[in-house]
Amino acid sequence: MPESPIDRVRPLLRVRQVREFSREPVSEEDLRAIGQAARWSGSSRNRQPWRFIVIRDEPTLRRLWQAGLPQTRALETATAALAIALPADERMTISHAYDDGRVAERILIAASYLGLGAGITWVRGEVRPAIGEILELPPGLFVRTIMALGHPSAGALLPKSPPGQARLPYEELVFEERLPRD
Ligand SMILES: Cc1cc2nc3c(=O)[nH]c(=O)nc-3n(C[C@H](O)[C@H](O)[C@H](O)COP(=O)(O)O)c2cc1C
Repeated sequence: MPESPIDRVRPLLRVRQVREFSREPVSEEDLRAIGQAARWSGSSRNRQPWRFIVIRDEPTLRRLWQAGLPQTRALETATAALAIALPADERMTISHAYDDGRVAERILIAASYLGLGAGITWVRGEVRPAIGEILELPPGLFVRTIMALGHPSAGALLPKSPPGQARLPYEELVFEERLPRD
């Protein structure tokens, strides 16, 4: 029997945030595959405004963790990370934020397909200079999103909520033709 449509998309439904990792390092090949998934992400007018920084150096990972808490908590145990650097151009804020979200999600998906875990960590506006300093960013670039990467810890693989309850019910989210008015 051919797989049903829902079974075919199930790997996507299983993509979740991982914020706690084991000490097992991420292989060079896996990091490269994630970098390729990032590279092939779509962006507005195919401008590819991003540059990606692969971080494996443990002291750097922990400095980033400390600088951006609480949002960066997944970097406490991450064995790698991928920072998304974007031009600090105020005219492009919305477009770049949209692109940033698209590539972050692809990184999550790629990590999940590889049996790894990934977590979005957002860099608040006020800590961007500190993060930029740690990463020695060239002038005119900033990082809003650092993707924590690693092998999920045993705890991270436990269900976060009872089955089926992590999202609103389908009937409350998806409608035919028009949204209800009440
Ligand atoms: C725009 C955006 C920003 C996020 N920022 C953070 C963050 O700074 N730190 C964090 O731990 N998770 C962050 N998350 C992850 C969300 O908390 C997560 O997607 C949500 O809780 C659902 O998690 P689940 O898919 O594992 O159920 C962010 C997600 C999005 C879409």
